[in-house]
Amino acid sequence: MVTSIIYNIDMVLIVLYLKSMGEVILHTDYVRDFIDSKVWSQLKDEIVRAHRLIEMRSGPGSEFLGWLDLPYQAGVKEIIHTANRLREDNELLVVVAIGGSMLTARAVIHALLGPLYYQTDGHKVYYAGYNLDSDYHMRLMEFLKDKEFALCVVSKSGSTIEPAVTFRMLRKLLEQKYGKKARNKIVVITDPQRGPLRKLAQTYGYTTFSIPPNVGGRFSGLSPAGLFPMAFAGVDIEALLEGARDEAQRTNKLDLDTNHAYLYAGIRNALYRQGKKIEIFVTFAPHLYWLNKFWEQMFAESEGKAGKGLYAATAQFTMDLHSIGQWIQEGERTIFETFFWYKPTSDTTTIPVDQPDIEALNYLHGKPLSYINENAKLGTQQAHKDGGVPNLEISIDTLDPYHLGRFIFFIQKSVAISGHILGVNPFNQPGVEAYKKNMFQLLGR
Ligand code: PA5
Repeated sequence: MVTSIIYNIDMVLIVLYLKSMGEVILHTDYVRDFIDSKVWSQLKDEIVRAHRLIEMRSGPGSEFLGWLDLPYQAGVKEIIHTANRLREDNELLVVVAIGGSMLTARAVIHALLGPLYYQTDGHKVYYAGYNLDSDYHMRLMEFLKDKEFALCVVSKSGSTIEPAVTFRMLRKLLEQKYGKKARNKIVVITDPQRGPLRKLAQTYGYTTFSIPPNVGGRFSGLSPAGLFPMAFAGVDIEALLEGARDEAQRTNKLDLDTNHAYLYAGIRNALYRQGKKIEIFVTFAPHLYWLNKFWEQMFAESEGKAGKGLYAATAQFTMDLHSIGQWIQEGERTIFETFFWYKPTSDTTTIPVDQPDIEALNYLHGKPLSYINENAKLGTQQAHKDGGVPNLEISIDTLDPYHLGRFIFFIQKSVAISGHILGVNPFNQPGVEAYKKNMFQLLGR
């Protein structure tokens, strides 16, 4: 029975090294000793309650549960078709978006295409409107002047100031360059009916895709908002959605042996109740920088409300072991970590032999860098646990569209359950309005 499965923390945590069938796995070895069984047994009812809210599509924010259906959406062929049409004539796509309208696509594109993406041949995605810096946009516009580029603006509301003003500037640049033909190079992704962007697209006849009304910004990564930029970059979005579907199947049952999204949500709330204030999401590769940002937004914007919520921090190891690593090892014990890991499928970066062996590195002769990176991770996890920092690990088999699709859905589900356990509405962001109100007043709107 479900309740007996999730009743006992030891029992749940011991069964976790399951053989991976491609699913997202949560490893809990270095957290088990830190969780108080009384806290865990209180949480069991709350996991059940949160599950029911999602399952029955009720509770705070239930009008924004459309993301549960996105893995099964129709219309993907049309997205691919439009992306391919634009790829024929344009080497670059500039995506104008911020927050949830940008981060999933950016995380996936950068993770898959790698750290030297911009130095290689092929279609590229650039970003605008995620900041208001004039240097950034001046240089981008200068760079675009002699490039064949298309524009894609993504904004659910259609009124967010950062993408709105930069889209207007870039649209004018495109019109100066291509005249009437500019129209065919613009794709608008917004609410199906509401907002100024929808009106603009109707007025000028731009190609459009819709973000369903019941899907909020940061949960829109598997809608056209995320899929279209990915498709332009050459990402296999059908495989990505297949991964999301498989993870959706796996995470819809109240069984913590297999539903690691629920387990993750439960454990982070248990640690929070036991005094942890900060969760650090750790990746081990520079091309995962935007994956960090995706994770950070999902949890911070969904949970930081009503004076509650873990602070969602991120780090990139091993680089940050040489800076904040000191604080993690010996600073205030109010933190825990969640490592993200995958094994590279091939690694040709073996360490060469040298004679004489002045740097004393020949013991690593023939070993790939990934072997050293993995051992750095293992050593760090043990050291941090010994230093009083519980740590979890989320792993996927391979960094490819299918497994990233699984990971994205896994995080979305974890956030929804975790937010309900915390007792907040995970799907709104009332706090974001405060700065906007002041800014608009200062700007004289
Ligand atoms: O998660 C959210 O809802 C936000 O981060 C939004 O995505 C972000 O503010 C951008 O909003 P919009 O898509 O309306 O421009």
